[in-house]
Amino acid sequence: MTRFVTDEIDVIDAYKLLSGLVVPRPIGWIGTRSVDGVNNLAPYSFFNGVAASPPTVMFAPTGQPAARKDSLTNARETGVFTVNIVNFDLVEAMNASAATVEPDVDEFDTAGLTVREATAINAPIVAEAPASFECRVLKIVEIGTAPMGSSVVFGEVVVFDVADRLLDGTRVHQSELDPIGRHAGSTYSRANQLFDIERPG
Ligand SMILES: Cc1cc2nc3c(=O)[nH]c(=O)nc-3n(C[C@H](O)[C@H](O)[C@H](O)COP(=O)(O)O)c2cc1C
Repeated sequence: MTRFVTDEIDVIDAYKLLSGLVVPRPIGWIGTRSVDGVNNLAPYSFFNGVAASPPTVMFAPTGQPAARKDSLTNARETGVFTVNIVNFDLVEAMNASAATVEPDVDEFDTAGLTVREATAINAPIVAEAPASFECRVLKIVEIGTAPMGSSVVFGEVVVFDVADRLLDGTRVHQSELDPIGRHAGSTYSRANQLFDIERPG
């Protein structure tokens, strides 16, 4: 084993170890709208569900407080965002939406996606996504400092929008969902080798 003591390694190496070992990470494809009405879309793999009551998700824009992340600015200023689930068919569009662009550029346009309006909040949904969540910001927690600190945005899911073909009641057909995970850098996995294992009583 090689032992890395965080205080003795570069920030970027800590990032590489963390993002290369905490895998596969789900991707929250975050839809927001600026106060000026410009739609924004970007993938975040520092993303997860963290509570069920209230149903709560988080995503973490890194490079804080320095890096301009429009998703963070918009979520902070409007108090809402959507999470769109990325399946295998949407990988290319998801990747295209990660381009660093000016705040007045709508990534729904540049990625060739269709906007659907959320019902409970003022934010855009990816119409092509198999499922989307409408979220209200609960709190934003600052972790660490520049150059690689994060602002962790916690949001309460107020509406779940799910394609009927995925559903058996509220149970989600995993093989139909065909989700992807992010590994290190540009490497992804497709969760199409599913297996079941009984839990001990
Ligand atoms: C699969 C994937 C996952 C990403 N995850 C994150 C993340 O967790 N945090 C982050 O700050 N940037 C992440 N990025 C980079 C952002 O998507 C990128 O900086 C984007 O331009 C931010 O857009 P925004 O300014 O519209 O929020 C990721 C990129 C990709 C392709």
